[in-house]
Amino acid sequence: MPVADNLTIDDIKDFQPQKVNKKKTVYVRHQGMTKNNSPTIKTKGLRIKELFKLNSDEFKKKEESRVGGRIKKISFINELLIEFSKKNKKIPSKFHYDLKGSKYFEKITTTKEYYVTRTEKEILKKIAHQINLIFHNNLTFIEFGSGSAEKISILLNDQVKFYVPLDISFDFINKSSKQLFKSFPKLKILPTYCDYTKFIRLPKNISKTKVGFFLGSSIGNFYNKKEKEFLKNAKKTLGNNSFLFVGVDLIKETKILEKAYNDPGGFAARFNLNLINRINNELKTKLKIRDFKYISHFNKKINAVEGFLLSMKNQELFINKKKIFIKKGEKIQTEISNKFTLTSFKKLASSSGWKVKKYWFDKKKFYTIFLLYAK
Ligand SMILES: C[S@@+](CC[C@H](N)C(=O)[O-])C[C@H]1O[C@@H](n2cnc3c(N)ncnc32)[C@H](O)[C@@H]1O
Repeated sequence: MPVADNLTIDDIKDFQPQKVNKKKTVYVRHQGMTKNNSPTIKTKGLRIKELFKLNSDEFKKKEESRVGGRIKKISFINELLIEFSKKNKKIPSKFHYDLKGSKYFEKITTTKEYYVTRTEKEILKKIAHQINLIFHNNLTFIEFGSGSAEKISILLNDQVKFYVPLDISFDFINKSSKQLFKSFPKLKILPTYCDYTKFIRLPKNISKTKVGFFLGSSIGNFYNKKEKEFLKNAKKTLGNNSFLFVGVDLIKETKILEKAYNDPGGFAARFNLNLINRINNELKTKLKIRDFKYISHFNKKINAVEGFLLSMKNQELFINKKKIFIKKGEKIQTEISNKFTLTSFKKLASSSGWKVKKYWFDKKKFYTIFLLYAK
């Protein structure tokens, strides 16, 4: 089936997944990457056939040179300018995930100190035994920030007919779609390159019962209480009578939290310092990694792990011709990981229009996965 070249963002909103050929079920669609969803930016779908031919670097290059790079760059530079013009400079977590950043994140998940991935998988295995008891219809799984898609494969069974991974990282979408396609050839995979903080128009002809996933403690990665906005948008995206599993990290001993987000092997530091590489690549600046140091702590006042790039000297850069100063000793916030109690998350969920159906813990009660229902 043809996927027309040079579709506009508006065309893509009407992309019809029912045309998907049985054997070649994966299409990469692009949505919501521009401010105001500008319809002037040209893009096009990519077939799984093409996807299989490319390695991750080629795929990224091809897509970025064609459309994504331009779109991403516009968004990164604009948001960076806004954030760097404020008194307390911050970089939102979504900008961590370029090729290198995604690789560093994968490394973090394998460290002894980062209990999040291990613990969440332990709970998902429990849920996998109950999934056929919870849901009785054909299902569509929709994963916000799907990453390696490793966790979702724990839950996939014959009841799941469609999987829609949503991610801002080409690399993760590319790699994980290929992997999953090999292990689950009957599953219709519809990866979408998008910014999940915005409303996302889902394919129309997917199984009616929609089950969303927001794992990896990503609900904690919003600045300024924006998690409520995310949950409200997710409800709009998934629709009434849908479900959403959310992985929620609980407040625990400071020592455990601080080690998880600043491991002795230095992967968390590299993951955060990689933002300097990203700035240099996209702005053609010459900032040096050695002129920054990654520091982090658990802020008990707000129950969040905060991470910063500490500037070791006075430095400056230009963003869209605007001169930005970074003073010696100034801290640029690059990490936020809000932690919850059962009560604080339940309150957040209900104030965002979701009803708590059930929740599960790991053995140590470090972490919980909530199942929410859209009222
Ligand atoms: C913390 S990782 C979690 C990955 C995976 N879900 C897990 O549990 O291991 C966050 C993932 O969300 C993606 N991501 C972060 N911000 C995003 C955004 N605003 N829109 C879409 N994807 C985003 C990243 O590329 C990355 O794959």
